[in-house]
Amino acid sequence: MLKDKKIAVLGAGKLGESLIRGLLEAGVITIANVRITAKHQQRLDQMRERFNVAGTLSNKVAAESADIIIVAVKPQTVPVVLSEIGEGLRPSQLLISVAASVSTAFIEKHLAAAVPVIRAMPNTPCLLKKGMTGIAAGSNATSEHLELAKFIFDSVGRTVVADEKHMDAITGLSASGPAFIYIVIESLAEAGVKVGLPRDVATELAAQTVVGAGSMVLETSEHPAKLKDMVTTPAGCTIDGILELEEGGLRVTLIKAVVKATQRAKELLET
Ligand SMILES: NC(=O)c1ccc[n+]([C@@H]2O[C@H](COP(=O)([O-])OP(=O)(O)OC[C@H]3O[C@@H](n4cnc5c(N)ncnc54)[C@H](OP(=O)(O)O)[C@@H]3O)[C@@H](O)[C@H]2O)c1
Repeated sequence: MLKDKKIAVLGAGKLGESLIRGLLEAGVITIANVRITAKHQQRLDQMRERFNVAGTLSNKVAAESADIIIVAVKPQTVPVVLSEIGEGLRPSQLLISVAASVSTAFIEKHLAAAVPVIRAMPNTPCLLKKGMTGIAAGSNATSEHLELAKFIFDSVGRTVVADEKHMDAITGLSASGPAFIYIVIESLAEAGVKVGLPRDVATELAAQTVVGAGSMVLETSEHPAKLKDMVTTPAGCTIDGILELEEGGLRVTLIKAVVKATQRAKELLET
């Protein structure tokens, strides 16, 4: 589906690199068909060393020859990039923006022709093909465009097709979420050290426990509360741990973290 497509990644930073690596390792793109841009030549040189990928400092040059244009610059830089490429894009191309906060309507306003636009919100585990991405279609995107975007992000993890009004919430939950979970893993590992485990063992136990619990939710489709009940023996040790979590307000804290991140996601374009 992608092998013959020319892909331009405009702003190949952390997220752009995760995507390129994930798609390459999934075997769905050919590096010869990828062209990247960055703000600085140094970044292009670094990416060429890592992937042997062609780069240019001109977004216009990269975009005009591409079938699929992935805009992966910071939200505040999106208007700049669109002003450079907007006039030259054609309806036969597909623009996929992974920028937080930037709506498809905003992007479409900057494009001369009726170019199809898909808004996507992936996360960095795309690097390991364990990503989670939400995608939403703009007004010119057809179901085929949505399918193509889904194919791209399915190659590096899971994808949900969402209503665009939910994209800031997806940003606050699954795009910011890895950072929240790293803190959970770090804290569990600290706890392991506190109760006498070597740090490397504690970290492996904590990380694989998070992977296992996530897989249980996804693969059994059981409600997390039911899975929790299955681990919690009456008068056992897990219930004592749960009491501490409830007293410490873990649930409310995580809920507030996602709510705050979602609110911030709405503002990024302006600040
Ligand atoms: N990081 C995440 O987990 C994540 C998740 C989902 C979505 N996103 C979205 O992905 C986008 C990028 O985030 P990031 O974390 O990858 O940021 P980043 O590492 O700072 O990458 C941004 C890249 O854009 C390049 N750039 C800056 N100005 C440019 C211009 N005028 N033309 C072309 N390239 C330009 C930078 O080049 P230089 O390196 O040369 O300065 C840099 O490589 C953001 O919109 C963010 O909302 C990020």
